[in-house]
Order: sequence, then structure tokens, then C-alpha cells
Amino acid sequence: EGEELVRDLLTIAALGRQGLEEILALSERSDLGRPLAGKGVALVFQKPSARTRNSMEMAVVQLGGHPIYIQKEEVGLGTRESAEDVARTLACYHEIIAARVMDHRDLETMAAATDTPVLNMLSDRSHPLQALADLLTVKQLTGRIAGAKLAYVGDGDNNVCRSLAEAASLLGAELTIASPEGYGLPDRLDGVTQVSDPAEAVEGAEIVYTDVWVSMGQDAEAETRLKALAPYQVGEALMARCTNAHFLHCLPARRGEEVSDAVIDGPRSAVWRQAENRMHSARGALAWMLGA
Ligand code: CP
Ligand code: NVA
Repeated sequence: EGEELVRDLLTIAALGRQGLEEILALSERSDLGRPLAGKGVALVFQKPSARTRNSMEMAVVQLGGHPIYIQKEEVGLGTRESAEDVARTLACYHEIIAARVMDHRDLETMAAATDTPVLNMLSDRSHPLQALADLLTVKQLTGRIAGAKLAYVGDGDNNVCRSLAEAASLLGAELTIASPEGYGLPDRLDGVTQVSDPAEAVEGAEIVYTDVWVSMGQDAEAETRLKALAPYQVGEALMARCTNAHFLHCLPARRGEEVSDAVIDGPRSAVWRQAENRMHSARGALAWMLGA
């Protein structure tokens, strides 16, 4: 008792290097069979989603399973019913409980309440499924992860940046984050450097990454954030400083804010390949959680 490993996936850091490498290897395979045949995966969303919902539903189908999409009004996580009781209920029907939540602690509560594995589909703290797709994309574009030079420009104190930084650090990529005062990543990680000048961050970069300046749930701070982050737009002048770099963005983009049309639609943008990789990495993550 208590020895069986429950393969939750709440953060990249908790996966460790081995778990991360295993999932990336599984993500590159299309011969994973149908480990979910006749089984369900619950997909609970407290926030909107295009990529995560669709890539997860298709990944579940590819593994032979049946996804059930659950909007926030339906389960009322913490309002209609406690997060514990929602998790215990979904565990009666599903092999995996996946959730996109406002508060990361709800994921921890759900994971603690049941032996059914819980998957983070984005919280205020982290977005591990995104980082898995990001690293897969980096490997495809540069031929490697260890030693690859990544620059992240913009809001460093968000879910996408934190998960990317944890993943880069575990696998030996070099990440430089450029953000204004007060918007840096609060965590200290091996291999992750923080600067304030975007030009310094992209020097020698092979990948330039950005995300929105106003994340879901931060609308009240929108005005302050847009003002503070305005000098951090990834535009053509910045991309001209790293002529071999590819551009990545987790999407959705707010064009004209964190990135210009010319960059996101330009020849060096790989955002659609990155979006497709969300499905492959979701399949790898699910297979790993099932014990592959
Ligand atoms: N990148 C991402 O998670 O997109 P969605 O919010 O559309 O799922
Ligand atoms: N940082 C963004 C990512 C969206 C996929 C947000 O949390 O809204």
C-alpha cells in the first residue's frame, strides 16, 4: 500500500529529468497502441481553450479512449462541490482527470483526494503540457535540446515561462529571460539567466519565445501590464538581432502587443508546428501517466 506510483503531472519540476525525457520520447512515437480502449479521460476547464481542449481530445482518441469535456458551470469546482469531491466523483469513471484551473492549489487538492492520476492543463502557476510541446519543437527545429539557446521576452512571471524554464533547466538548454522590473520569474533555476534588455536576451538565440502580457484571470491589471511590457514586443528589429532564430509562441497571441504580425506570420515563425506538437506531447503525457 502506498507504494504504487500515481503518475500525476502537475508541474515540469515534479517530473524530474527522467520523467521529462520519458514523456518526450513517447511523444515522438505513433505506435503507442490503445491503452485507453473502453476508458474515459475527464477534461475539466475553468478557463477557455482552443489548443489544449482539441489536442487533448484527439490524443485521448488516438490512444483508444473517450474524452469528456466538462465546462466549469457543470462541476462547479469548489462552488457546487468541493474540489476533493469532484475528483473522487470523476475517479469513479475515468482513468485520468485533467483540469485547467484558476488556482494551482485546486490541482494539488484533487491529486491528494484520489489515486487516479491528475493532469494540469494550465493553472496560474504552470502549463506543463505547453512546455512539453515547446521542447519537442525546439528539438525539431535545432536538432537538440541540451545546449540549445533560448530567449524568452516579455512576462517572465507567468505559467508558460515557468514551465519552459523548468524544462530547459532539467534538460540543459540555456534560457535567457528578458522582462521589465517586477515581471521576472521569481524562481532561481540552473541554466536560466534573467536580464532586462530584450536585445541582450536574443543575442545568439536559436529560439525567441513570447507569451501574452495579460494572462487569463489578469484582466484587472491589463492597463498596468500593457504599459510596463510595451518595450518588450517581439518585432522585426529584435528578430534582426538573431538572424538564425526561430520564433515560438504558445498562442493565443495578442497581435500588436507581445508580437508583431510580421514576426508571427513571417518565415521564421514555427507557431503552427508548435501548436500541432501539443497533440503529440499530450499523447506522450497521457501514455506516461498510464504507466508506459
Ligand atoms: N497554448 C494553449 O494552451 O492554448 P489554449 O489556451 O487555446 O488551450
Ligand atoms: N499565459 C497565458 C497562456 C495561455 C495558453 C494564460 O495563462 O492566459
